[in-house]
Amino acid sequence: MIGNFTYNTPTKLYFGKDAVKDLPAVVGKYGRNVLMTYGGGSIKKIGLYDRVKDLLKDFHIVELSGIEPNPKYDPSVLEGARLCKENDIDVILSVGGGSVLDCSKAISVCAKYDGEGWDLISGKVKATAAVPIVDIITLAATGSEYDMGCVISNTAINDKRGYLDELMYPVASFLDPEYTYSVNKWQTACGTADAINHVLEQFFASPHSMFNDGVMISALRSLMTNVKIALEDPNDYAARSELMYVCSWGCNGILANGAGYSGWPMHSIEHALSAYFDITHGAGLAIITPRWMQEILSEKTVERFVTLGTQLFGFDKNLPDSEIAQKVIDGFYAFFESIGIPMHLGELGVKAEAIDEMADHILENDNTNEPWMYAPIGKDALVRILTASM
Ligand code: NZQ
Ligand code: ZN
Repeated sequence: MIGNFTYNTPTKLYFGKDAVKDLPAVVGKYGRNVLMTYGGGSIKKIGLYDRVKDLLKDFHIVELSGIEPNPKYDPSVLEGARLCKENDIDVILSVGGGSVLDCSKAISVCAKYDGEGWDLISGKVKATAAVPIVDIITLAATGSEYDMGCVISNTAINDKRGYLDELMYPVASFLDPEYTYSVNKWQTACGTADAINHVLEQFFASPHSMFNDGVMISALRSLMTNVKIALEDPNDYAARSELMYVCSWGCNGILANGAGYSGWPMHSIEHALSAYFDITHGAGLAIITPRWMQEILSEKTVERFVTLGTQLFGFDKNLPDSEIAQKVIDGFYAFFESIGIPMHLGELGVKAEAIDEMADHILENDNTNEPWMYAPIGKDALVRILTASM
């Protein structure tokens, strides 16, 4: 069944080799004063920094560099908002991965707000305006280039918040798969694990439809196949282009139009892990995924596992449902392991002593136990999932 829905992604995509040639025309629509944001230097190594500066030589560019993975409210968002205000910035140009773009999205609303920016990010106050954002995304992972979300860490209070507002859709996103050739094996694997998880968060929901299932299974098949090719040959354009495009569909709702909403419980768990231990988002998700699946496997959910087992993994439909479900769980575990993700949180520096506090934090900030959720999980279940993931 396709239920009621409203859908709109207003972001214009420019996809393919040398798509950035259109950058001056696109940025110029919004003004001449540009805040260019980027991370720790990968864009310089791949020549993209010079290319952008050359393309935008007639613009006034203010730079904010050094944006961290798991971007921080303080200093990055605060510093960016200050630069926007002081320089009367017309448009933000984000050049980098999801962290740079998420930070830029938060900057875009904080720059138009006179109070404490965290009040916007934590949902206390609704933003009323934002500086337009154009981005060049250099890592296939989050889908931030095609959605209205950002995820910001506030280290002072051990919080990592997902924040959504339609004001934060980029006005244009440039996706050139060639700029992802330099993404190392770890980030390639973790980025793909993130996107796989985005699909699964939407697949495990009710109601759902043959159409949604088909699109999602196709997305999973493409991600799981192409990541192996890209790990083997980082410069394989066909593989990098599929990864980039499929990842973009991750979080803007298109995969689940008309379907139920799960509440994205694995993301709630992972955001706590990143907040406490600053781990790589996709790695945390990959480790949690099979443990979460094990926890929520039930008479109600087994049908989802059977659909994945028969349509994605090609398991024999005559096997008992419970056996197919177990093979799916084991299948995802083996897949993530095969792309180089250590499958234990302890290997990423997570400490078992923090599990109890993290479980409370998840319930308080991101309640995973709402009755409307597809598979609500309370404190005991959270503790079991985290403990099994160690
Ligand atoms: O900082 P630089 O030097 O640019 O290096 C980055 C960084 O070290 C590097 N990198 C990026 N592009 C590269 C490259 N290295 C070589 N070649 C390139 N072309 O990769 C490292 C990781 O970058 P990051 O931006 O942190 O990765 P990702 O894109 O996976 O973003 C992760 C963040 O996004 C959030 C996550 O929680 C995490 O904070 N998420 C955002 C979402 C959204 N906005 O919709 C949804 C997701 O679920 C996720 O929560
Ligand atoms: Zn994610």
